[in-house]
Amino acid sequence: MFVQMPGNWTQHSFFRSKFLIKSDEQISKIVKSGLSTVIVDPLKSHIRPEIKKKPVYIPKAPEKKIEPKIDLGPRLLPAGFSAFLTDATVAPKRKASHLYEVCLYVMDKVLLNPNIGNITQFKMGVSEIVDLLVSDKDTATQLFHLTSRDHYSFTHSINVGVMSILLTKALYGESTPPNMQELSSAYFLHDIGKSKISDEVLYSTQEYSEDERTIMEAHPMDGLDLLEEANLLSDESKIILSQHHEREDGSGYPNGLQGDEIHIYSRICATADVFDALTSRRLFKPSLLLYDALLLMKYDKGLHLNKEVFSAFVQLFK
Ligand SMILES: [Fe+2]
Repeated sequence: MFVQMPGNWTQHSFFRSKFLIKSDEQISKIVKSGLSTVIVDPLKSHIRPEIKKKPVYIPKAPEKKIEPKIDLGPRLLPAGFSAFLTDATVAPKRKASHLYEVCLYVMDKVLLNPNIGNITQFKMGVSEIVDLLVSDKDTATQLFHLTSRDHYSFTHSINVGVMSILLTKALYGESTPPNMQELSSAYFLHDIGKSKISDEVLYSTQEYSEDERTIMEAHPMDGLDLLEEANLLSDESKIILSQHHEREDGSGYPNGLQGDEIHIYSRICATADVFDALTSRRLFKPSLLLYDALLLMKYDKGLHLNKEVFSAFVQLFK
């Protein structure tokens, strides 16, 4: 070892204060000189002090999740639904139209009664819809066209769900997020918190009072509570439900997040959400034509959507 004597040269009997120990005699001499410590320079030593080996990380085998048996209640999806969707002999237009009707029916049930059985069945159904949307381009295109027809309140959730899935696919390309099923369920369920709002407030044709606005703006967090109560709250639902009304400039709710603080999934959902709101015919407002809605989204500073996500959204219509 290369050692350095502590203190100055008057405190030891060595010729040099720093040297490489080459013999046992030198060690004995250090001991006899009464020094209790020396400084070792590991970089100049031939023998390095033993460095503790890094502990080897052995990942714990994931514990097998035992899913509690849930009473799913009456069946929501029609029998033979999966077989119909994967049947290559069925024309894409017919497939899309049937799928849309099933979505309307199921969404209606879930939003009217968002219990654990209905939400679970809905998520099972969504997984088949997503498979179809990401693999069958013709049916996806037909379904996309269907989202621009007349609306009722619950069709909004389906439209936003379908458009968000396709927009995610457009933005991510081949590297589609691995959690696409959970993600898609969250897109469809983004407004599930509205099921806690009374019809008088939800369908009010008057301008909202302060209290009514507070109730409306609570729906993102009410949705989280609902899914948490049903034990179905995934990371994706947390992101999408809580952030889909946040806006790039911080003017959104509930947390006034800005720019990159808003997750890409939420920006996607917000873009589809705004488009569908603009093109929907509601009791209190006429709908905008597709082109006018896109123009408004492009130039209206008040909407504050993410520009890149919006550009990808426009491409979907080509
Ligand atoms: Fe919403």
